[in-house]
Amino acid sequence: MNGQKILVTGGCGFIGSQFVKMQLERDESAQIINLDLLTYAGDPSNLGTWADSPRYTFVHGDIRDPACVDALVPGVDWVVHFAAESHVDRSTGTRAGEFVETNVLGTFVLLDAVKRLNPDAHFLQIGTDEVYGDVAAPGFPDESSRLEPSSPYSASKAGADQLALAFAITHGLDVRVSRCTNNYGAFQHPEKLIPLFITNALDGLALPLYDGGTQIRDWLRVSDHCHALRTIMEKGQAGEIYNVGANQDPERTNREITQMILDATGAPQSLIEDRQGLRPGHDQRYAVSSQKLRQLGWSPELDIESGIEETVRWYTDHRSWWEARKDESYRAYYAEHYGKSDP
Ligand code: NAD
Ligand code: TYD
Repeated sequence: MNGQKILVTGGCGFIGSQFVKMQLERDESAQIINLDLLTYAGDPSNLGTWADSPRYTFVHGDIRDPACVDALVPGVDWVVHFAAESHVDRSTGTRAGEFVETNVLGTFVLLDAVKRLNPDAHFLQIGTDEVYGDVAAPGFPDESSRLEPSSPYSASKAGADQLALAFAITHGLDVRVSRCTNNYGAFQHPEKLIPLFITNALDGLALPLYDGGTQIRDWLRVSDHCHALRTIMEKGQAGEIYNVGANQDPERTNREITQMILDATGAPQSLIEDRQGLRPGHDQRYAVSSQKLRQLGWSPELDIESGIEETVRWYTDHRSWWEARKDESYRAYYAEHYGKSDP
């Protein structure tokens, strides 16, 4: 596994940047090429000083561009594919087409390049548990469970997974698919629940909690996700899907997560603003069985309470990082989605 050359896509985003840093740190001979379009969600500064490593190359480009992708695929041992439009709320409005183009077409362009130019390369498709749709308690879908995506985001991710698996069957590529639950931690864009609520709480702004805050997500620390991906690369098998989940016990509702954030920031309860109907087709509960991956030796390290506290400390100490992301276009998105311009 050591000393491999990895083409990472979306390595300037939240999870991809953590993966790149971890890979460069843990494997002193790893070489990384990072292909990223630098959308609103990507920033090279997320790599910190690792961006200066002679073992790291950044390519500013689009996974939907075959010429760009064709130039990068030959000679790599792995393609680890994070690049995506990743925010459900942005997919439920007028931008659903961008999710289909990036998440489905972009994945196809990468797979097609591997098939033509480097069929011995391994391909890790970074998927999401949201492809299983709303999971009635106490169910825990396994990797063979039916896909029932509810949003254009999760449907586009399901399409990408299916394409990748079809390339494995049709063309014999070594494709592996991970399906992870909601991540949290440092460097997450403040559009997502946990960083949005932390940063709003730090500024004394309202926390727009959807639909009573009763929904359940199986929050996993981003570092635990990246360890899981390394496990899949090292010990997983071609053609297999691996669910990745914290399996929080007890499961936490969004309201309970919000309370943890209020406790850790010292912000008042009165900031919670109950909002109805902001997300059409909102899934009540996500959960997965991650037994298959745990049998390979992976397990998450951090519990949610200490993870939230640590994440609050990071956002408290990195105000300039998240203030830069709450820019004019973010304010426009916020105004359009939440009906007010005050993020
Ligand atoms: P993110 O939105 O933080 O980052 C996405 C990155 O992809 C950005 O750097 C962006 O610039 C880049 N990108 C977007 N379109 C591109 C294109 N056409 N070409 C090249 N680069 C492009 O996303 P994230 O939260 O880090 O998620 C990474 C992956 O993990 C996604 O595939 C997502 O579906 C999946 N995932 C995320 C979570 C989560 O909780 N965030 C959970 C499970 C799976
Ligand atoms: P989010 O972080 O957007 O991730 P996902 O939609 O991929 O699960 O949302 C997590 C949960 O938090 C989800 O149930 C929706 C809820 N939520 C709010 O209540 N308010 C918000 O402003 C946001 C962004 C999310």
